[in-house]
Amino acid sequence: MDKIAITDTKTVQTRLVLPPDTNHLDTIFGGKVLAYIDEIAALTAMKHTQCAVVTASIDSVDFLSSAKVGDALTLEAYVTYTGTSSMEVYVKVTAHDLIKHIETLTTESFLTMVAVDENGRPTPVPKVYPVTETEKQLHESAPLRKKHREKRVAFNPKKPQT
Ligand SMILES: CC(C)(COP(=O)(O)OP(=O)(O)OC[C@H]1O[C@@H](n2cnc3c(N)ncnc32)[C@H](O)[C@@H]1OP(=O)(O)O)[C@@H](O)C(=O)NCCC(=O)NCCS
Repeated sequence: MDKIAITDTKTVQTRLVLPPDTNHLDTIFGGKVLAYIDEIAALTAMKHTQCAVVTASIDSVDFLSSAKVGDALTLEAYVTYTGTSSMEVYVKVTAHDLIKHIETLTTESFLTMVAVDENGRPTPVPKVYPVTETEKQLHESAPLRKKHREKRVAFNPKKPQT
């Protein structure tokens, strides 16, 4: 399988924050942002593998600031690292106040997506390589995040038996 540049896995989506998506403070619900993050991570992973994927874990989510009604939310996602069948996807969410021209980073998240075959079993994925400095940082720090993830999964007493 050919290696793919991280840059070429990039997916971007823009959404408008509407009143039904917000709480009593007129800022977006965290769960709504999570759903957007999960969707773009799946799209990014599917584009990369050209097969079905499932979310194995949402490894971290940091809500750094809020987005309010009328803001444009831009989600950017990349495959930053791959294992055999798993992919780490990094998602960055930015809020844009289009009237005042203010752009704020609101959320960062790392997810693990797994490519699956027609029987729902893990299947190999193409590797990725970094080009830019940011991509290099994300790629090089991924094995450490993978180690933390594996430790957490190993300690999960409710892991279903297959
Ligand atoms: C993800 C899933 C396919 C893994 O199946 P499995 O039988 O555990 O497969 P394996 O043990 O061979 O692991 C396959 C890969 O998934 C990774 N993985 C498994 N469980 C994981 C977890 N909880 N978190 C992160 N990665 C995980 C493994 O590290 C492995 O990666 P690698 O191939 O790059 O080395 C399976 O657990 C599943 O289908 N889960 C449900 C997914 C789903 O429905 N998501 C939507 C939730 S609403």
